[in-house]
Amino acid sequence: MTFSDDDIKGLIRKQANLPRMAILGIVRTQGQCGTDRFNRLYNEATNGTLVPNDPPLAQQLVTGFQRAFDPAFLVNNMRGKGLTSYDTLATVLGITVLELLAQLRLAQDGSYNIYHDGNGNVELRDQVEKSAAIDVRQFNAKHHLYGVTGDNHLGSRYSRLDVLNALFDIWQEQGVTTVFQCGNIIDGEARFNRHDLLVTGIKGQVDYLIDNWPHRLGMTTEFVTGDDHEGWYVQREGIDIGRHIEAEAIRAGRSDLVYLGHMEKYLELKQGQGSALMSIMHAGGGTAYAISYTDQKIVESYQGGEKPNLLLVGHYHKFNHGYPREVNTIQVGCTEDQTPFMRKKKIQAHVGGVTLRFDQDDQGILHNVNVAWHPFYDRSFYAGTNWKYHWSQR
Ligand SMILES: [Fe+2]
Repeated sequence: MTFSDDDIKGLIRKQANLPRMAILGIVRTQGQCGTDRFNRLYNEATNGTLVPNDPPLAQQLVTGFQRAFDPAFLVNNMRGKGLTSYDTLATVLGITVLELLAQLRLAQDGSYNIYHDGNGNVELRDQVEKSAAIDVRQFNAKHHLYGVTGDNHLGSRYSRLDVLNALFDIWQEQGVTTVFQCGNIIDGEARFNRHDLLVTGIKGQVDYLIDNWPHRLGMTTEFVTGDDHEGWYVQREGIDIGRHIEAEAIRAGRSDLVYLGHMEKYLELKQGQGSALMSIMHAGGGTAYAISYTDQKIVESYQGGEKPNLLLVGHYHKFNHGYPREVNTIQVGCTEDQTPFMRKKKIQAHVGGVTLRFDQDDQGILHNVNVAWHPFYDRSFYAGTNWKYHWSQR
């Protein structure tokens, strides 16, 4: 771009309060103008008089350099000015709009808080913009409510039918319609649990289960089978014990015992455009030094893409709610007292069950995950025969 003499003289008069070299810098960045021509025009525009306080040449050069390249100089000229058009700011700085935009970018990269309004105006703001608010009203598009239990070991003399029935009373009162059972619904048979059993044989144990599993109007129990206990029938006799239990229950007039699968079942919870995954699992292996360690290790062992949003775990006879790798892991406790085997191995039993509530939004994301543990104690506590501590006001 080439300026006419009058254009340059107009610019010189407009910027007359600036050092001469700075005005030269402005003119040069906006168009072709040699020094001789500039000096001639400068003298004409200022009636042949130099600005009296014209700074030394070196300082003028520094000032000119800052105007062209220094983001700090840029923001000093923006501070307290409010919203200013690119054209105005570029003129003040003596640079082109394109150069100004490049400088604004540099300043933003240097963490200056620069705001563009999208209409050719820019501002240096003295307040950091708050993060966009999250609309929480969408979080509870669907409410979920479940009863969760596991390791009930029906058929064992250590099984706590009183606790199981009390849990169903609680869940019925809360409006639960689906109870998830995480394996070991019966005790099964092996050489080492023979003396624990009230009933023996597959028929004996399955009939006992069908007769004694709580049956409440409108409530369904969805269960998985474990590799141990009921799984001993799978390993030894080759019987799909879960399917057998479901079929025998239907034959006996009970349609509320629904078999999900052996050892593990993923359920997809669909809502709106998305879904969440809930895994119901009967784990394996021994109990760990730290209660939470087993479910952490299960989550760690998942292959890519396998991670559920909720993991309900039976097997350890413990209660725990963890959140490793953003998976809600819930060990669901048991309804069986400590057995001689557990006594020997120094394994504690957490007797009780869980009410699980959560909300789900239309992207399938879970919110407000609420794991309520219902604890129970040994039989004699409820019989009132083992109250060792007596408190008296006298
Ligand atoms: Fe168990």
